Amino acid sequence: MKLSTRLLRWYDKEGRNLPWRHTKDPYRILVSEVMLQQTQVERVLLYYKEWIRRFPNWRVLAYAARADVLRAWAGLGYNRRAVMLHELAYKMFDRTFCTPTSVRDWGQLKGVGSYTARAVALFSGQEVDLPIDTNIRRILGRLLLNRFYATPRSDPEIRKSAQALLDSTSRPADLVQALFDLAASVCTKRPNCDMCPLKDVCPAARAFLEGRVRTPRLTTRQSNERVRPGKKHPDRIYRGRILKMIRESTHGMTCEQIVRSNILYATIGDRDWVEQMLHRMEKDGLIRRKGGRYIL
Ligand code: ADE
Repeated sequence: MKLSTRLLRWYDKEGRNLPWRHTKDPYRILVSEVMLQQTQVERVLLYYKEWIRRFPNWRVLAYAARADVLRAWAGLGYNRRAVMLHELAYKMFDRTFCTPTSVRDWGQLKGVGSYTARAVALFSGQEVDLPIDTNIRRILGRLLLNRFYATPRSDPEIRKSAQALLDSTSRPADLVQALFDLAASVCTKRPNCDMCPLKDVCPAARAFLEGRVRTPRLTTRQSNERVRPGKKHPDRIYRGRILKMIRESTHGMTCEQIVRSNILYATIGDRDWVEQMLHRMEKDGLIRRKGGRYIL
């Protein structure tokens, strides 16, 4: 049986029923992909449907106030993603702008990287070009390139070897969704090869099951985020807290109030740090200053 047939059979039985898999609307797919960047599926599920209910298309999103957009995003983290979607909505509405219909078009939009451009084009039925994220890299590295641990760095190498797999099916979008699901539940960093529908044909599964190679250990990810000396979390966490405070305040907040609030565990010496974070948030379009106070 062909590899693609095995995968799709497994997917039809075991695949996750996720709301963004029932649409070909590029807007809805882009929203899901942007939410799924850096956020777990389970968490995205808590936000996606409500977002689509409130902002069902580019037009409604373009007309929404930035503060409402940020409120709908509150809790998902990396708030710049919401700003990016909002700005994209204005652009989609610009009369001189043509709706993207290919990977190339999507990739030219600010904030849409090469993975997302390919994912939106593929899942909306525009173009078949493999989106490669860390999960796809890991699973295809094991299945096609004999890489058990370190995932291959070269995306063209993966793309080339996966082309035959994509060409061998009339359901390339489902095939990629199947790879996401298999990577999330079976072909995890420490794989569960026993449960895998591809164990008979995957060289890595054979090696893991026969004990020829050791199952990888889970390591905590090294983060390259900025962390202020003496602080427990990266700045991103404190920026999220500041945004929450501003969002929940009636008339915005002054820098002084933010420094003195007890959620940052800031001292007076931290004022420059807080100012830097506020400055960055202003630059990112999350907040603005009005009469000495910061508002959404
Ligand atoms: N991660 C990125 N895109 C995804 C999708 N469409 N389904 C599940 N996980 C994903």
